[in-house]
Amino acid sequence: MKIITIVGARPQFVKAAVVSKHLRQSAREILVHTGQHYDVNMSDIFFKELGIPAPDYHLGIGSGPHGAQTGKMLEAIEKVIIQESPDCLLIYGDTNSTLAGALAAAKLHIPVAHVEAGLRSFNRRMPEEINRVVADHLASKLFAPTRTAMNNLAHEGITEGIYRTGDVMYDAFLEMSQRVSCQSQILDTLPISPKQYYLLTLHRAENTDDPAKLQAILSTLAEMDRLVIFPIHPRTRAKLAEYHLSFSEKILKLIEPVGYFDMLNLELNAAVILTDSGGVQKEAYMAKTPCITLRDETEWVETVEVHWNCLVGSDPDAIREAVSLKWLGSDYPDLFGDGAAGAQIAKLLTT
Ligand code: UD1
Ligand code: UDP
Repeated sequence: MKIITIVGARPQFVKAAVVSKHLRQSAREILVHTGQHYDVNMSDIFFKELGIPAPDYHLGIGSGPHGAQTGKMLEAIEKVIIQESPDCLLIYGDTNSTLAGALAAAKLHIPVAHVEAGLRSFNRRMPEEINRVVADHLASKLFAPTRTAMNNLAHEGITEGIYRTGDVMYDAFLEMSQRVSCQSQILDTLPISPKQYYLLTLHRAENTDDPAKLQAILSTLAEMDRLVIFPIHPRTRAKLAEYHLSFSEKILKLIEPVGYFDMLNLELNAAVILTDSGGVQKEAYMAKTPCITLRDETEWVETVEVHWNCLVGSDPDAIREAVSLKWLGSDYPDLFGDGAAGAQIAKLLTT
């Protein structure tokens, strides 16, 4: 059996690393990197740290507006599919690389399998929501991480080929967090002590592409009561320059994006995580670190329902109030499966 896997953005490297390891035991995997992310610490570092095999095809698409970026990917992926004639095409999450893979394969009548199916924010202004809705409706195998994701698919009339597998990022977290103490020294290189700092990530278009929102969030965080470590996404750095925004770095410490081991280390040791990332919201729960989400809605509603995650949008007062953690719960149910999602998905793909 031959399977083409499409990856392109940072979170997809983490997810694909988990499944690929199992998949390659019984199938031939052709790994395609669209080149959506290309900086060394947005791409290569994950291949190295997670032992992901080198891509068979690197499409080198790079950045661009949605239409141009997705269009170039579509054209290039179509060529790879025609050349390789796979039995199935595997996509992850909700990026433009996901959308391009789904469209290219569906038009060539190649079955599409979607890992992280069924996630919804119900906000069609998010590019990711459009990507994931289209991907789910084109897929014939849908691997849903949570019960909510299963229900979302059912509500859209998608009832065949759905499997609740748990979340592959939980597999990655369980395996890699064991190795953090020998693989990451980041706490020694920053002026921080365990549980005495906040960790921030911010890259969603809804926050970065609105100067007023970006300013509101970052000026609030620049005045927190503890150091805020901010591995800044290149998109956000570019927007700060474009809008000529700057902040005192006394509290808000900007650092380059970090590798996976350093990120896990920072997450495990943070007092609180503030983020608009999907993956980081989940990892906060896995690390048992309270999470404040800088968005008005989330796809990972379970983390909010159990009071480990609090939605604050970009409102300064809500952010300041949330860091007091008055909302924090104590129940800690399993939300993301049993840590064997990767093996289960590989089995479902190959049998
Ligand atoms: C993309 C995904 C988003 C995901 C995120 C993970 C889409 C629509 N968005 O957002 O769902 O959460 O990846 O991180 O697919 N840039 C660099 N170097 C890089 C990559 C990006 O400088 O290696 C800068 C460029 O200025 C680029 C901008 O970041 O224009 C945005 O990159 P892009 O891949 O289009 O979207 P992300 O914001 O990264
Ligand atoms: N991540 C990382 N270094 C960073 C920021 C994030 O390794 O500096 C990891 C994080 O641990 C998670 C994934 O990247 O596994 C999440 O990616 P991101 O936040 O870019 O995208 P999203 O999950 O929102 O799509």
